[in-house]
Amino acid sequence: MKTSKIFDHWLYVSFILFYSGTIFPNELFQFKGAVVTSNALATEAGEKILAEGGNAYDAATTISAMLSVVEPFASGLGGGAFWLIYDAKSKEYKMLDARETAPLQSHKNMYLDENENIIKNLSTLGPLSAGIPGIPAVLSYVNDKYGSKKLSTLLTPAYKAAINGFPVNERYLKGANYKKKWLKKYKETEAIFLDKGEVPKKGWILKQTDLAKTIKKIMKDGHKSFYTGSFAKKMLESVRNNGGIWSEEDLNRYKVLEREPVRSSYKGISIIAPGLPSSGGLVLSNALNILAGYELDKFSPTTQKHLIIEALRRAYYQRAIKMGDPDFMDESLEFLLTPSFAAKQRESINITYATDNQTLEFANPTYQGQGNDTTHFAVIDKFGNRVAVTQSINFWFGSAFVPKGTGILLNNEMDDFSIKPGTENGYGLIGYNANAVEPGKRMLSSMTPTFLESNKGFVILGTPGGSRIISMILLAALEWIDGGNAKSMVSLPRFHHQYHPDYVLYEEEAFMPNEINELESMGHILKKSNRQFGNMQIIMWDHKNNKIEIASDPRGKEKSREEIY
Ligand code: DON
Repeated sequence: MKTSKIFDHWLYVSFILFYSGTIFPNELFQFKGAVVTSNALATEAGEKILAEGGNAYDAATTISAMLSVVEPFASGLGGGAFWLIYDAKSKEYKMLDARETAPLQSHKNMYLDENENIIKNLSTLGPLSAGIPGIPAVLSYVNDKYGSKKLSTLLTPAYKAAINGFPVNERYLKGANYKKKWLKKYKETEAIFLDKGEVPKKGWILKQTDLAKTIKKIMKDGHKSFYTGSFAKKMLESVRNNGGIWSEEDLNRYKVLEREPVRSSYKGISIIAPGLPSSGGLVLSNALNILAGYELDKFSPTTQKHLIIEALRRAYYQRAIKMGDPDFMDESLEFLLTPSFAAKQRESINITYATDNQTLEFANPTYQGQGNDTTHFAVIDKFGNRVAVTQSINFWFGSAFVPKGTGILLNNEMDDFSIKPGTENGYGLIGYNANAVEPGKRMLSSMTPTFLESNKGFVILGTPGGSRIISMILLAALEWIDGGNAKSMVSLPRFHHQYHPDYVLYEEEAFMPNEINELESMGHILKKSNRQFGNMQIIMWDHKNNKIEIASDPRGKEKSREEIY
């Protein structure tokens, strides 16, 4: 079965050897690589590049652009991304930071009224909610530095999908339904994504003519044609006419930043994940360091879950009070990775009671008080290069604003900043000064493309899901350590705690009835989610059995992001 041929099939995974399931590389004539994405068209485009001799960077470039066209509700050229790379030649791990940046005219109180109250929807709807996009720049960056094929070749599938159109899937329709009011707010957006003002029927062909022209321009002149010259002027004019504050300088100065990923270890496995401005690597590593002090399997299932919740509470607490764009911080947060700090955090964990959030400040003497949507994909090639990318425009259809004549749907990532100290953003996360809005700053993210490695093999994983991304990765990592495989890791029922709001959000099957009673009697507040969350994509290499395994989250099947976020 070659699943990627089937539109809307839930398992959008493929092996280049036209084989799906498990590959045993030694037994096969030639392993050309593997791709996993949330969308059949993107998977197919990526595998074609590998089959034609492209490397993982080439395939990832094609997939990123393709997803930007065929899943416009989740990510796009108007958004940002984190790339995690293992480069087989140099044997180096790299993180590419293509996160959006706050415009130079932005300021701390820009979403507040004169009484310092939050103005509803200002950080989520329209051009004022959009950071300067990073995806066009990262496609060029990767192509210049790591690519083996021309950018114009790699962007051709995305161009064709935009100009010829493609039938929208169930997820598109659910998202469009959910965001219909916002899509209708801007004529340009309505004309592209709705069918005469209405949510289209399944099978409707979405053509994006302006986006196709924009892609063509990038194919011809590179990403500079997006950030400078007549195209940039066109975007700016429309952004500014609609209340936005982007400037020419904002676009001209946008840069992809190459950073060192966070590296840590937990019970014999290495974890490689993005560092700030993604909170993913630090929160994941800190939570695992806390758990490393326990022999989890010696405890009852309820106590194991209690300890995971308490570890998450503490790691997300550090996120809230300390984390932001590292280029705007005086303090290094390396201490969060140390076993001694984790040991200190463990001191306050009671094995039988939930911790009161008010008591957490112990670990933080310098604390000053006030001081779907997204997508993940991965590629591995025959050379051993590995690429994991999470890219986003933040919420469903981002800001819902398309600058006139550009086809670029802008993100609403400005909402990932802490727009007022201690108040919740769209994911219920709170933050303080470290993540306050500042000109040129990158907003804190939870996107966590991750590599796990051990003598068993390695896993490339990631998922959308806003603040819940990091706890999903943690649960999947623990499942791997417990002997789980790619399929069990993506399917695992999930639970989540993020310090604030102080409750455990869980999927229906995450707890047995007795566990619910026991956790509640320990003082945890449990909230059953009426939606599933995540859309995890995994490529796994198993050294012992010498096989590759790929899995896509079953939650991705015919579900809207709203349902799976
Ligand atoms: O960067 C972040 O943390 C968020 N903007 C990611 C958004 C996301 O995962 C939405 N998906 N459901």
